[in-house]
Amino acid sequence: MIKMNDIVREDDPVLREKAKEVPLPASEEDKAILASLIEYVKNSQDPEIAEKYGLRPGIGLAAPQIGVSKRMIAVHVNDENGNQLSYALFNPKIVSHSVEKAYLTSGEGCLSVDRNVPGYVHRYARVTVKAVTLEGEEVKLRLKGLPAICMQHEIDHLNGVMFYDYINEKAPFQIEENAQAIER
Ligand code: NI
Repeated sequence: MIKMNDIVREDDPVLREKAKEVPLPASEEDKAILASLIEYVKNSQDPEIAEKYGLRPGIGLAAPQIGVSKRMIAVHVNDENGNQLSYALFNPKIVSHSVEKAYLTSGEGCLSVDRNVPGYVHRYARVTVKAVTLEGEEVKLRLKGLPAICMQHEIDHLNGVMFYDYINEKAPFQIEENAQAIER
């Protein structure tokens, strides 16, 4: 199982690489890696397991964060109605998005970043993502709110982009016009 020591931190160049597409159908090795990503995110949200293994809680994790430069991500998060969403995806791709932007009022964090970076990260308010699941099923996901934000954060990891790249250094808390505030 993945522990904090397996997660690379922000000075690691792998986080700035463009990750490679996973050849599908996925190999057993790639499936095992993707399964370990979703397992980490779930474990990290279980207070007992998190405490036992010293896991920092997270809602998403991408393969480059464990040093694997391949297009795989895991997201485990509640939507605004309290429904648990759980995705382990190969080759996720944003196929369309809203014009409207949104940001988390608490800002964003990352398991690869051991510091608090203040500021708002503006992302698309709604995204449609195509991907292949761990089970090999092609899916088209329509997301908004926190799940949409988290999905964009994780897909960014596959393109070498970190959340703080978006923060306006001169005015970190400036809100873009018509952007929607999302409370966490
Ligand atoms: Ni991250």
